Amino acid sequence: MPDFAVELRDVVKTFPTPEGGYVNAVDHVDMQIKNGEFFSLLGSSGCGKTTTLRMIAGFEWPTSGEVYIGDQGQGRKPPFQRPVNTVFQSYALFQHMTVFQNVAFGLEMEKTSNEEIKSRVGKVLEMVKLNGMERRSPRQLSGGQQQRVALARALVKLPTVLLLDEPLGALDLKLRKEMQLELKSLQREVGITFIFVTHDQEEALTMSDRIAVMSLGKVMQFGAPVEIYERPNCKFVADFIGETNFLEGVVQSSGDGTVRVQVPRVNSTLTGVARQEYKVGDPVVLSIRPEKIRLVETPQLNQNCFEVIVRNAAYIGSDTRLEVDLNGVKLKVWEQNHISTLDPRAYHQGTQTAWVSIMPENILVLPGE
Ligand SMILES: Nc1ncnc2c1ncn2[C@@H]1O[C@H](COP(=O)(O)OP(=O)(O)OP(=O)(O)O)[C@@H](O)[C@H]1O
Ligand SMILES: [Mg+2]
Repeated sequence: MPDFAVELRDVVKTFPTPEGGYVNAVDHVDMQIKNGEFFSLLGSSGCGKTTTLRMIAGFEWPTSGEVYIGDQGQGRKPPFQRPVNTVFQSYALFQHMTVFQNVAFGLEMEKTSNEEIKSRVGKVLEMVKLNGMERRSPRQLSGGQQQRVALARALVKLPTVLLLDEPLGALDLKLRKEMQLELKSLQREVGITFIFVTHDQEEALTMSDRIAVMSLGKVMQFGAPVEIYERPNCKFVADFIGETNFLEGVVQSSGDGTVRVQVPRVNSTLTGVARQEYKVGDPVVLSIRPEKIRLVETPQLNQNCFEVIVRNAAYIGSDTRLEVDLNGVKLKVWEQNHISTLDPRAYHQGTQTAWVSIMPENILVLPGE
């Protein structure tokens, strides 16, 4: 078996623009997707996700570089000669055909025997929990059920790789969450490599084994969800995924796996951790997630403890979201409400002094700009 299900080597896709210029929709991307992996391309609108997927599928060809499926360079092979199948956002079912006919269509085109079609369509409809609905038309199905027909239609061809371009985009939030879990367990069950495009970070974190975070045609970081959230490699990724506080500073010293950073705006030195080596004087940005800052009543004996003024406190049920003032700089702090009580003293209120305490491993030192 080849090492990777799909590999992109130095792939560039340039489109001419009507304005007479060019846009690098995909800009020197290297990507290795493992067999059986649930892999997501995550990024905001226009970052090149669909273009990347279309080049893997064969609907577009790279301007330079090469797409490999298994260990086969794909060159200019058309889509139908590639062992992949695509599920699009607009799932475009044939309205005049039944569920069964929609799913069977691709197999009929391949002149598969009636007997085999019946058994394969039956199996895949069971997989997506639509057995019993074979004779309905798409109009007689809910949005989620229609999406599952589109999925069944792609799966029935037994692709080695399934490409999914925002397949849940048209569904309402509740159904979308349900389908996320179903799709994930279906992928485990069938063991097919999934390449899933989304601009929804929570969706990517929930479903993926690994994520590529894209911006302006480039991949900013590859990593498992926990890596992307807990150890982003740059300010862009830290900002794009979840919420965070940024503080700009200059490296004062480093060693023992920690970095001490002078932050002029708060007139303090903070100790954090880094994924890379820094030299004294390097400009850096500290990223501190709001849920990783602790608010305490008395100063603690640790490296990162500072007096603050609580400015705002919003109770939102599971959490209380506070804004604290650290020497004139506002920080977001989220406190989980562990204890159920009606005593107002249990919750922080606005305009009181307190101390923030931040463990060094909760302060990420990232390259400055
Ligand atoms: N056929 C085309 N001709 C010219 N420019 C294109 C073409 N297709 C895409 N682009 C441009 O390439 C860039 C990447 O587009 P792409 O569709 O890959 O983004 P995306 O990440 O899928 O965005 P979205 O989340 O909005 O679907 C955009 O700037 C887009 O305008
Ligand atoms: Mg797209």
